[in-house]
Amino acid sequence: SSIPVLAIDGPSGSGKGTISRLVAQRVGWHFLDSGALYRGVGLAAAWGDIDLSDASALVRCTFDTQIQFLENGGGEPHIIVNGKDATDELRTETAGAAASAIAAIPEVRAALKDRQRAYRQPPGLVADGRDMGTVIFPDAPYKVFLTASAEERAERRHKQLSEKGISVTLPGLLREILARDARDATRAVAPLRPAEDAVRIDTTGLSIEAVVERVLALLPAR
Ligand code: C5P
Repeated sequence: SSIPVLAIDGPSGSGKGTISRLVAQRVGWHFLDSGALYRGVGLAAAWGDIDLSDASALVRCTFDTQIQFLENGGGEPHIIVNGKDATDELRTETAGAAASAIAAIPEVRAALKDRQRAYRQPPGLVADGRDMGTVIFPDAPYKVFLTASAEERAERRHKQLSEKGISVTLPGLLREILARDARDATRAVAPLRPAEDAVRIDTTGLSIEAVVERVLALLPAR
């Protein structure tokens, strides 16, 4: 396809979501939050009381679940799952845990492949996820892999949760993040790894604006 894609992959807490959305806004490209698709299917499975070990029911659920992103005038888009506004519920631990369980099922990943590719529309797409540059858009002309130290990711997450009035300890979060990193990097299905041709950016100690500028510098001058 000649429609350009900027693939932005990395672990959670690397700043991916924020950076991808800002870059998409700056260049006027479409935006795909692929994690929201996994979370949306996970949530629908939870709503339907589907057992997270029942792979064939989860695959059916993937095909049956409709997920729409509604523009919100520059703010974070609203995410509609099977007709219901699930923007807040998608951020819960229930949705996150369900997402990572279903994300380990190869048929679920396959079922979401074409749906993700359909977001590649003119004038371009910024795609945020774990396997955008490796599996979904291997031919993307622009690929970034964002990282940050586990300590910094734990601090960012801590700040986010405190702002929402949720209290958790920093050492506890750090342990969870290290465990999740190990799981994500070693899982048999779609382990998290940078594409060979991805530009790696370590966001530790960098401001959001500084990272946005570095990513924009990779794209052709406008
Ligand atoms: O990015 P986010 O935290 O919303 O993703 C939720 C979960 O979905 C991740 O923990 C990961 O297991 C899964 N995921 C994935 N591939 C993607 C995006 C998300 O496996 N492209």
